[in-house]
Amino acid sequence: MLAKRLSRIEESATIRMSHIAQQLQDEGKDVLNFSLGEPDFKTPEHISEAARQALDLEYTHYTSSAGIVELREAIAKKICDENKVDASMENVIVTPGAKQAIYELMMSVLDEGDEVMLLDPAWVTFEAAVKLAGGNPKWVKRVEEAVKYESLESVVSERTKLIIINSPNNPGGYVLSEKEQHEIAEFAIEHDLLVLSDEIYEKILYGRKQVSIASFDGMQERTVIINGFSKTYAMTGWRIGYAVAPLEIMKGMLKIQQHSVTCAPSISQFAALTGLRSSQECVQEMVGEFQKRRDVIVKQLNDMGLHCVNPEGAFYAFINTLGHGNDVEFTELLLKEAYIVVTPGSAFGLAGKDYVRLSFAASMDDILEGMERIERIIS
Ligand SMILES: Cc1ncc(COP(=O)(O)O)c(C=O)c1O
Repeated sequence: MLAKRLSRIEESATIRMSHIAQQLQDEGKDVLNFSLGEPDFKTPEHISEAARQALDLEYTHYTSSAGIVELREAIAKKICDENKVDASMENVIVTPGAKQAIYELMMSVLDEGDEVMLLDPAWVTFEAAVKLAGGNPKWVKRVEEAVKYESLESVVSERTKLIIINSPNNPGGYVLSEKEQHEIAEFAIEHDLLVLSDEIYEKILYGRKQVSIASFDGMQERTVIINGFSKTYAMTGWRIGYAVAPLEIMKGMLKIQQHSVTCAPSISQFAALTGLRSSQECVQEMVGEFQKRRDVIVKQLNDMGLHCVNPEGAFYAFINTLGHGNDVEFTELLLKEAYIVVTPGSAFGLAGKDYVRLSFAASMDDILEGMERIERIIS
């Protein structure tokens, strides 16, 4: 009964790992879940209060499909001021989560058989979205070393339409340097490609600077910025993301939005607006907490002989499993011997096969306990 396209994609590996954690918890096991992709903090109170007010004012109906004007304007202003990209409200579409924006983009720009370049490893949804839209992913390895122009050249073809970058990166934890992004930009211009730049972790940085590739000369007209409120404001359940795109592409995405989800949730849009317009202190506090956790994890893992690149952004440690089997073996070892849930790196692409992703969106107590358990089983 099912369409062939479904056979092209797998169940989300990250969500599957969370289900395993839940199952073990239900069986009464003392599980430490480090597979989550969402901040473990509460949504800031002033944002929740804005939603209560929106409810009292009965902002409970469909909004304009692209989003409420105030929010689109506030996003355009943020993109101009912070990301140095000359956007107006017309370029902005507010979506129910960044994921939906990614699907709408793929549906808008890909024809059957078009190719999309992905930096390997990459967050699981990119590949699925490309495939569901009829596209073919082409992988370029980018783990601990900057991507090389020649590697990009080696997979590009007549059918290549788009290249996807994601900085700060999930799962790798790296931030693309300006130099590396310039190389990618040059490549995109040379081969007349579109760029999807997923900047959803842009505020979760540890001493690094995030620059948007769309701000480079000749790039705005070929770049779609994907961003959202889930990570920055601990608002995963509110489902507010957005895209900033060249007008023609934005209109394509809007058509799909009109005929699928209609609009992003009305109350959440008002809450998100308050998040953007208010003090950003709550974001700084959350990032400060993530940084403390990152420091503990990286030090302890390295002390016990597990190599882990120091994450420069986002909240994932990408741990090399060499000496302890491959990613799947190490994941199983952690699960069976220590009730620790992580995500095997190969879920994100072949280049991740000697890594596991450990999310530090977990309490410091859990992290300390987790490090002790890991040390016990590998020593
Ligand atoms: C790179 C990246 N982009 C987008 C998303 C999804 O964001 P949203 O909750 O806005 O759909 C995630 C969530 O894990 C992510 O890691």
